[in-house]
Amino acid sequence: MAKPKILIADNLDKDGVDILTHAGIFDIDYRKKTTREELEAVIGEIEGLIIRSASKVDKALVEKAAKLKVVIRAGVGVDNIDIPACSQKGIVVMNAPAGNSISTAEQAIALLFSLARKIPQAHASMKAKAWEKSKFQGTQLTGKKLGVIGLGRIGKEVVKRAKGLQMEVIGFDPYIPKEHLAHLEIELMSVEKILKEADFVTVHTPLTEMTKGLVSNKNLTSLKPGIRLINCARGGIYDEAAIIQGIKDGVIGGAALDVFSDEPPPKTSELYDLENVVLTPHLGASTDEAQIEVAKETAESMVAFFTTGLARNSLNFPTIDPSAMDILAPWFTLCAQIGSFIGQMMKRALREVEITYRGSFTALNLGPLEIALTKGLLSVAMGSDVNLVNAPILAKDRKLKITGKKDSQGANEPSMLSIRAIDEKETLTLKATVGTVGGFITELNGNSLELHPEGNLLYIENTDTPGVVGHLGTFLGSHKINISSMQLSRLSKGGAARTFLGLDDEVSKELIDELKKKEFIVEARFIKI
Ligand code: NAD
Ligand code: MLT
Repeated sequence: MAKPKILIADNLDKDGVDILTHAGIFDIDYRKKTTREELEAVIGEIEGLIIRSASKVDKALVEKAAKLKVVIRAGVGVDNIDIPACSQKGIVVMNAPAGNSISTAEQAIALLFSLARKIPQAHASMKAKAWEKSKFQGTQLTGKKLGVIGLGRIGKEVVKRAKGLQMEVIGFDPYIPKEHLAHLEIELMSVEKILKEADFVTVHTPLTEMTKGLVSNKNLTSLKPGIRLINCARGGIYDEAAIIQGIKDGVIGGAALDVFSDEPPPKTSELYDLENVVLTPHLGASTDEAQIEVAKETAESMVAFFTTGLARNSLNFPTIDPSAMDILAPWFTLCAQIGSFIGQMMKRALREVEITYRGSFTALNLGPLEIALTKGLLSVAMGSDVNLVNAPILAKDRKLKITGKKDSQGANEPSMLSIRAIDEKETLTLKATVGTVGGFITELNGNSLELHPEGNLLYIENTDTPGVVGHLGTFLGSHKINISSMQLSRLSKGGAARTFLGLDDEVSKELIDELKKKEFIVEARFIKI
């Protein structure tokens, strides 16, 4: 079988390329730098794509990506990837967020010193063979207030380092519960208050509607006079025109910027000319260590994805904690199978599926199981067009509501799930669990059974009369179809009986129609999982 083709569109450290090569499972196209035209020319052929910040995966490109399964951003920021477009097409998007945090935190601290001690300006002056000692008087950092906005991976590292410098650190992050920030031992306050009080402010957030223009012409007059601003996160968090204005007016004491709204900034930008502005060309992650770590993280995620289907650090699919994977893997398979089973058992379009989880596995994040079930359900009608990434979107498009809830009782009991699937007329209920030989359905519409929902199944609903099983065996045998397993169930003697036969072969529509003509058969259906 042909190996999946992957394109490394931007420069990736050798350690990462080696991991991909040694995996031996890919046909690798490593280009280091790829123009838009080149990307468009190959995108239809590739299954995996690795990019850094230079290549853009926008809607137009995604539309041409007929075989693409996964895009991995070697780094943190995914502002160059249209994630909704990828999700709609079932393309997994991942990033490699951990590898460059320390280097970027160090870059922020380097810029902090640069602003405080004017080192870049003094260096440029001396390189021009001048000796301007009095011109470069700076300010001491000890005892100064540093505002850190965004207390995620990088922000936290900056806090630790600034405290080591004996700065007074204040911070803001509305998305992290206060108790999870207590160990930092900093005062938390609003952005407005930070901008009013801090001598230096450094931002470590993504660029969002909320962080865009955090400093802008609207709040220039509310800043602490002489405030110095650092940005190693994303261009646009401080409005560049406002920074220029603020520095000219003397409101802002200086700015050190590693990132820009347009990279590189236009040659006409006044940022180049202002004495109090220190500029670096997006160097936060540009250390040997960060590049190696990011490349390794990226390559390992690509290999894991193609060998196990596991999406680490995925941004459009809930990541399963690797430590929970051993427990959840059989449930994941079972839910996908049950989804397909329900999709084939129900006669009309489904409206709602409710899953209730019980037992010890409720301690884990079970969200991915709902997605697996959704994928199984929709694949009955959509085949391979549906996958774990686009299944929730496609379900929403079809107004199919899938919900999961945990039953808090019996948390120490064996894990099991129960399902109610509702279409416009009928409700199907089932219970299922995972045993030593995989997952199986233990109850269907109130009838006990032990059914592994896999392979070829023949479902028969019949009147409870003697000889039915014999009839079925003879009928299938005469068409050379071998029975591998049988599950009989009925609610009461003489009532309707349900039979599931596991078969070695498929049953054609013609044979099903023939079966339905038999007087003891109420319903016959072939189910393939
Ligand atoms: P992270 O996700 O670990 O942390 C970001 C934090 O920002 C989160 O804790 C989030 O809650 C917080 N946040 C979001 N909106 C906020 C708001 N309105 N106000 C305050 N906090 C808010 O990410 P990270 O790895 O720490 O990266 C931070 C930023 O640095 C990202 O934008 C990333 O792209 C950028 N980055 C730049 C470089 C570089 O080379 N300069 C390198 C790495 C990362
Ligand atoms: C990132 O988002 O990881 C950084 O901006 C680093 C980079 O891509 O160079």
